[in-house]
Amino acid sequence: MNHFLDIHKTEAADLRAMIEQARAMKEARAGRSRGAADDEQPLAGRMVALIFEKPSTRTRVSFDLGVRQMGGETMVLSGADLQLGHGESIADTARVLSRYVDMIMIRTFEEPILLELAEHSDVPVINGLTNRTHPCQIMADVMTFEEHRGPIAGRKVVWCGDGNNVCASFLHAAGQFGFDFTFVGPSELDPESEFVELARARGVNVEIERDAERAVEGADLVVTDTWVSMHDSQSTRQRRHNLLKPYQVNESLMAKAGPDALFMHCLPAHREEEVTSAVMDGPHSVIFDEAENRLHAQKAIMRWCFGV
Ligand code: CP
Ligand code: NVA
Repeated sequence: MNHFLDIHKTEAADLRAMIEQARAMKEARAGRSRGAADDEQPLAGRMVALIFEKPSTRTRVSFDLGVRQMGGETMVLSGADLQLGHGESIADTARVLSRYVDMIMIRTFEEPILLELAEHSDVPVINGLTNRTHPCQIMADVMTFEEHRGPIAGRKVVWCGDGNNVCASFLHAAGQFGFDFTFVGPSELDPESEFVELARARGVNVEIERDAERAVEGADLVVTDTWVSMHDSQSTRQRRHNLLKPYQVNESLMAKAGPDALFMHCLPAHREEEVTSAVMDGPHSVIFDEAENRLHAQKAIMRWCFGV
């Protein structure tokens, strides 16, 4: 049994195997309707709990569908509906759920909630986003990059804007998949230095820049995310917008990156804020492939967790 808690906590060879399996499983389903079963049913007889303490469209639907395609069943639970949201300890919740279900995927707030759940769970736990990281998203992003451009190793990824949870998982992936990573944004919103150092210790080049046009030169991939994440206080909204405005991804910035650069965004996006519609709907953008690949990447993650 494996937990999938973060990209930097998972062996690089396992991550690579998951990407290859995701690609193979996607190819094997080509032309089938979404609800059709996969030929292989590795999750037959397994029940997966999907717990959401924050909103979600992609994570909710792609995990639910992925389990069903592989023959399993799901229960989707909101944090507020569980006793967890009303004072029951995380450890006791983990012990109880372990008697009912075969796997737990959780989207939550503080990282210690995820870690404590995993520590006390007898079944695999998957991180479906915390305030600090979002590993499932970046597995889909690596898969998407490679579908369009081949191996990501040695390429240059530029993160533009807030050094948030999605950025953190990209930094983890840089170290594990061997690509260079440039963060460009205001110093107030830099990614955690611990994660920057971790990637550098794994031998990849990590740059911290303040000038967006200079940063995107030679980029193979430009990525951004919302300026206000779900865990950010709305009272910081105006300040964040003021800080991040110079880092909007627009056509003029993508022109500096060059004709072959891809654009990604985990979604949901705020059109005309962190990114313009011209970029989201333009020739560099692979945002809906990313969204689709959440399904395939997570199916491979779940198989790895179960060892099936
Ligand atoms: N990208 C992503 O995780 O989207 P949701 O918040 O809709 O799940
Ligand atoms: N950084 C965003 C990602 C949403 C998928 C958030 O945490 O709200």
